[in-house]
Amino acid sequence: MIGVFDSGSGGLTVLREIHSLLPHTPVLYFGDLKNAPYGSRSPEELGVLTVQGFKKLSDQGATLIVSACNSASANIVVPLFEGLCIRPENIIEMVGPTIKAFAEKKNKKILLVATEATIRSGVYQQAFHGIGGAIQTLALPHLARAIEEKTSAPAVLAMISEALAPYNGSYDTLILACTHFPLVEEVFKRSVPEGVEIFDPAEGVAKEVVGHYRGQGSGKLQFLISKDSDFFRAKVAEFFGNSDYTIDVVS
Ligand code: DGL
Repeated sequence: MIGVFDSGSGGLTVLREIHSLLPHTPVLYFGDLKNAPYGSRSPEELGVLTVQGFKKLSDQGATLIVSACNSASANIVVPLFEGLCIRPENIIEMVGPTIKAFAEKKNKKILLVATEATIRSGVYQQAFHGIGGAIQTLALPHLARAIEEKTSAPAVLAMISEALAPYNGSYDTLILACTHFPLVEEVFKRSVPEGVEIFDPAEGVAKEVVGHYRGQGSGKLQFLISKDSDFFRAKVAEFFGNSDYTIDVVS
């Protein structure tokens, strides 16, 4: 079984891609809504929460874990891999597949938007430097929470377009390096200058999962959340309404 981990509803954008490529593979998803948002947490806090989340998934039978959270991937998973000089076959994170997608497109003028924790980690900046590219980065510190809290569309539009405005003309590609952000991709489209490409890493991450997972099964989706949320339930129904799924609130 595949395990997918995020602070809340953001990882659903990654699961959507995984499920479309592997519709018969059972997935256990953990959204840690009680401790969200992760993007304003320290690396120490993210370390504890990520280990707890991964353990919850593996204790219940997940054999391949997807860190569908950039804040956890950039602060914990990648530094741990780099520090130990290992690439575990059974953990997929967000940064590597994103960098891979741009390895042949170094001349792009990239603006990467993410949480504060992801930008502060410096992992994306270093990784793009490593492939001979450069990026501008912009933290959108309140956006993931605003999305979870169903903030009105005009308020989200103002939040995004005001933050992006000073960068207009300086980028041709916008990377959504927070898995919550594709939930408002339409708003991003309205906020960027014409011709700017918006890149969601989810598809590349899902392809990485396909390359690593060797199971089959019922295709059942089991969602665990540490706090109940109407927004989460609505997004699951929207994305996976035609699939067999359950949602349980766990401690
Ligand atoms: N979706 C997560 C990310 O990609 C976490 C966002 C948050 O909880 O702040 O970083």
